[in-house]
Parts: sequence; structure tokens; C-alpha cells
Amino acid sequence: MKHFLDIHTTDKAELRSIIDQAHAMKTARNGRPKGTPDDDQPLAGRMVALIFEKPSTRTRVSFDVGVRQMGGHTMVLSGSEMQLGHGETIADTARVLSRYVDLIMIRTFEEATLLEMAEHATVPVINGLTNRTHPCQIMADVMTFEEHRGPIAGRKVVWVGDGNNVCASVIHGAGQFGYDFTFTGPPPLDPEREALDFARAQGVAIAIERDPMKAVDGADLVIADTWVSMHDPQSAKERRHNQLRGYQVNEALMARAKPDSLFMHCLPAHREDEVTSAVMDGPHSVIWDEAENRLHAQKAVMRWCLGV
Ligand code: CP
Ligand code: NVA
Repeated sequence: MKHFLDIHTTDKAELRSIIDQAHAMKTARNGRPKGTPDDDQPLAGRMVALIFEKPSTRTRVSFDVGVRQMGGHTMVLSGSEMQLGHGETIADTARVLSRYVDLIMIRTFEEATLLEMAEHATVPVINGLTNRTHPCQIMADVMTFEEHRGPIAGRKVVWVGDGNNVCASVIHGAGQFGYDFTFTGPPPLDPEREALDFARAQGVAIAIERDPMKAVDGADLVIADTWVSMHDPQSAKERRHNQLRGYQVNEALMARAKPDSLFMHCLPAHREDEVTSAVMDGPHSVIWDEAENRLHAQKAVMRWCLGV
């Protein structure tokens, strides 16, 4: 069973082949009207369940559109409206859904929910974000970097802010795609040790630098994300803002990166908090390509899962 659960648990060569296919599929679609089916219909007759236990714009729309472009059908399910939200176990839900659909994508809170779904499903399961990781995002990010600047291996990627779920997947990506990684943020918000250890074990340079200006020195790619994630208590907001105020990505910070550096953000962004509008809408920013590439990368992920 080819589940797509995380970057570090998927084979390096397979990750690379998924990115290559995503590039090829994007090129093939160029010039076609939005929403029209692809020439190739590898998901014809397939049903895909998209389960959301948290809000989503990009993940929801890009998976839905991606399945339809490839000839398949989707059903978007909200966790709270399913029996899942009313006491039916994840394992039983996985067993039942597997009798109806060919593929399950789930966005949830605990990683344990995703893993239990994968363990008991008899169809592939895709991680659409948990409190711990967001692997689909990093597939799009690598694809976006490479389409603008060529191979990401050996480049310097800097994460600015909260060492959260997206950050953990960027760190896993360092190990798998061979880029160097620097985290800059306050110590209480450091990324998880397990991810850092994984990447270090793959032989890439992994650093933590408290001074954001020093961290970004010579960066090829600077990444920011929200200071308060969906799984964080809203009561954390004021404290987070105080902790992270010095870690805003602004023009002064980007000036320390390489002149041709890129800026990414998985979105949604909070303008003038973690990043200024001048950077989001400025010459380094590739955030709209990054959002678009969720579609292409996930289409390739789904094909890989289904072997089609
Ligand atoms: N980047 C991302 O996953 O966005 P959504 O929360 O809108 O899906
Ligand atoms: N870190 C953010 C990412 C949203 C796509 C969150 O988990 O809310």
C-alpha cells in the first residue's frame, strides 16, 4: 500500500519521481483553460474522499480540482459531520471508507489519527496536514524552487518563526532532497528534535541561529508561516506575537539573503505579522506559484499512491 504520510517516510527516489511527474503534468496543462480535464484521465472512475477536521482553502480546492482534472470524483467530508466526530473509531471509519472509495486524504489534529487511518484502510491514505507535519506543502515548495532556480540540493533554506508542522516537513525535506536548513526563532518554538536528527543523519547541514539577520545570510530560500497554527490555542496569540515580533520577514531581512533568493509561505498569511506586504508582493516572492503547485504536486502524489 502506497500511503503518502510524510516526507521522511517516503523513499527519496520516489519523492524525486513524484516531483518530476508534477513538473511534466504542469507543462502538459499549460495553456489549457482552468478546470478542464487533462488529456490523460488516470483517475477515471475513481472516488476520492477528502476529510477535513480543520479549515482549509488550498488543500481542499487543489485536491478537489486535481482529482477532477484527472477524471476522478471527490467527496469532501467534514470530520464533525461524520460519525467520526460522534464516537465511531478511526479504524472502523477507515475500514468502511475503503469499501467505497479508492483513496483517502485526511487533514486532522493528532498524527495518531492519520496513522490509525492508514493502518486500517485498505486504500492509500494521504496526509493533508496534522499538528506535526504537512508533507504535501513541501512537495509543492520543492517543485516551486526548482522551477525558478534549478536543483534545490546544496541550497540554503531558512525557516523564520515558529518551528511548527510545516517547518518539520521542510526539515524532513532537507534530508530527502539534500538542501541545507537553518531555523531562526526563539528557543521555546524550536522545531522538534526528531526531525532535526533525521535530516542531520542524511548528511545535510542543519543549524539553529537565534539572530534572524545572521540566519538569513546567503539564503537561497526564506520561508515563513503563521505565528499561531490551527492546533494552537487562540490564547497563545498574544504570547506568540511577543515571542516572534523580532522574526518578521521584511525587506531588511530579505536584503541579507542572496540577491536572487526566493520567499515562500504556505498561506494563509497574516500580512504585517510574520511577513510584510512588501515582501509578499515583492520581487523575491513566489507564493502564488507555490500555491498553484499544490495542485500539480498533489496530482502526482495521487497517481503515485494509486500506481496510475
Ligand atoms: N497551505 C495550506 O495548506 O493551506 P490551507 O490551510 O488553505 O489548505
Ligand atoms: N502551520 C499552519 C499551516 C496552515 C496551512 C497551521 O497548521 O495552521
